[in-house]
Amino acid sequence: MAGLIPQDFIDDLVARADVVEVIGRRVQLKKAGREFKACCPFHEEKTPSFTVSPSKGFYHCFGCGAHGTAVGFLMDFDHMSFVEAIETLANSMGVEVPRDESDRPAQRYDELFDLMSRVERFWQQGLRDNQSAVDYLRGRSIDGTTAKRFGLGFAADGWSTVLDKFGTSQEAIDRLLAAGLIIRKDNGRHYDRFRDRIVFPIRDIRGRCIGFGGRTMGDGEPKYLNSPETVLFHKGRELYGLHEARQALRQIERFVVVEGYMDVVALARHGIDFSVATLGTATTDDHLNRLFRLTENIDFCFDGDRAGKQAAWRALETALPHIREGRQVHFVFLPEGHDPDSYVSEHGSDAFMKALDNGVALSDYIISELAADVDLDTVDGRARLAESARPLIAKIPQGIYRELLIESLANTVGLSAAKLEKTLGRAHGENPQRTAGARLSLGRSASISAGKPSVLRRAITLLLNHPVAGGQLDVEKIAGVSRPGIDLLHDLIETVQKEPNITTAGLLERWRHDDQGRHLGKLAAIEVPEDEDFDPVAELSDCLDQLALAGRRERIDFLIEKQRVNPLDEDEKAELRQLS
Ligand code: UTP
Ligand code: MN
Repeated sequence: MAGLIPQDFIDDLVARADVVEVIGRRVQLKKAGREFKACCPFHEEKTPSFTVSPSKGFYHCFGCGAHGTAVGFLMDFDHMSFVEAIETLANSMGVEVPRDESDRPAQRYDELFDLMSRVERFWQQGLRDNQSAVDYLRGRSIDGTTAKRFGLGFAADGWSTVLDKFGTSQEAIDRLLAAGLIIRKDNGRHYDRFRDRIVFPIRDIRGRCIGFGGRTMGDGEPKYLNSPETVLFHKGRELYGLHEARQALRQIERFVVVEGYMDVVALARHGIDFSVATLGTATTDDHLNRLFRLTENIDFCFDGDRAGKQAAWRALETALPHIREGRQVHFVFLPEGHDPDSYVSEHGSDAFMKALDNGVALSDYIISELAADVDLDTVDGRARLAESARPLIAKIPQGIYRELLIESLANTVGLSAAKLEKTLGRAHGENPQRTAGARLSLGRSASISAGKPSVLRRAITLLLNHPVAGGQLDVEKIAGVSRPGIDLLHDLIETVQKEPNITTAGLLERWRHDDQGRHLGKLAAIEVPEDEDFDPVAELSDCLDQLALAGRRERIDFLIEKQRVNPLDEDEKAELRQLS
């Protein structure tokens, strides 16, 4: 293990890490307002007091006081060292941990994001400049507003349009490659990946462009070309349209999962703003985790043909482990020859909504599919149905949903539920929640809210919770103040001013190896109001004023005290006059 991991890499990683995803993969989280809750994996409890805040990048248990960032969680829950945790996190995000200075510098995320957004805008201009591309979209009844909402663009024909415009240095070419926008030939030269195509920007949940899909306007092959896997873009994780849906809707009642870019855009054009598309892959666990964090209802919408049926069954198998009380999964099959785009365009949004409402519930779908393959009039057929249901039922977490499914299955095969359960036998009892061995120290108490917080503490708490609010603070105000902790506040302010993008988690990681860092975690866990009236900038600045004032008073007291013992020199006298 050679060399130190550069701090800016750790900053980037921590800022980008999705603490909900990291923890959600190991502990079952439930959405509660802006946060997520679970029974704490670090101590025994019946009601959840373990809270994960995606905006702070931070978790905290109000029961036992355990807290930390995604890195800290890996260290505590999976018993990793700091370096292992960083490596695991980097690995799951598809980046390599750079080691010492001799290593090639890793591509900086912010530079890649910046490049993507410049190329995106370039292609949007390209669309405005190309009449046949505009006509193509019009022909598919995509209006200007919808095109704008999804940021659609056009990549002109030509082998080096993007390369020439953006690849003006070796570094810039390396970035284009890392972003998947150009392709390297065997002879070491490069050419544009997207040529003569309508482009669909693919965004992450925060709206940043991370990849593109490009559709040919003619019959060329392939019909759609997508960005390759890059450090920014992971096909199996991203959903096209998720950001746009979140922008359009305050409350997301349901998601409908479709197959194509055009399906999402066409549905949105018809006022159906809650559709998302997988990117040419089957539905993955990551997709479902993402969606179930935002809603309890998912409709999968497929074409009525054989391929659609197959895709639906695969989606069902992936969905089973995610099923639990309250969650509803439905399967919607459109008439043969239709996809959501063509259906909504031909029949309108009411008809599409009706099709959604007529979707088949997951449990019914399982039973009807399995029953289709057997003769239920024979004992043998019924036994085979029960047998084929066994592996599917085993995937569903234990709970009411599973009991109900077994019950309706029992009805179908004409057995009592108890008898069927016996037949299913092995389907039960496995798959216990992964919490054993995760219990750590119980001793940490959660006395953080005890007592009236000092101004200094309040300032640090505000700063940790709203790092951005520290951007304009005048640290000079507290330059002369001396009291325990003031240096920490000073350093924190300097850090958020130097690193305007740093998050709560980023600050905690910066202070991980510092003695005072231990206290920061507790302060970061304190609830700070986040309603509209609350102005963290004003609050912080007020705290600094109070500290400065208190500091001035202390200085006056000190000078007066000193004066009693021996005379002040000229400077001190002037200072005292000025302070008073
Ligand atoms: P479809 O072939 O169903 O296309 O592919 P579509 O969405 O209906 O598109 P239009 O209506 O013909 O324009 C569904 C999805 O599969 C992926 C794309 O994500 C596409 O949206 N796909 C398809 C590819 O990645 N490459 C292809 O060549 C084709
Ligand atoms: Mn289509």
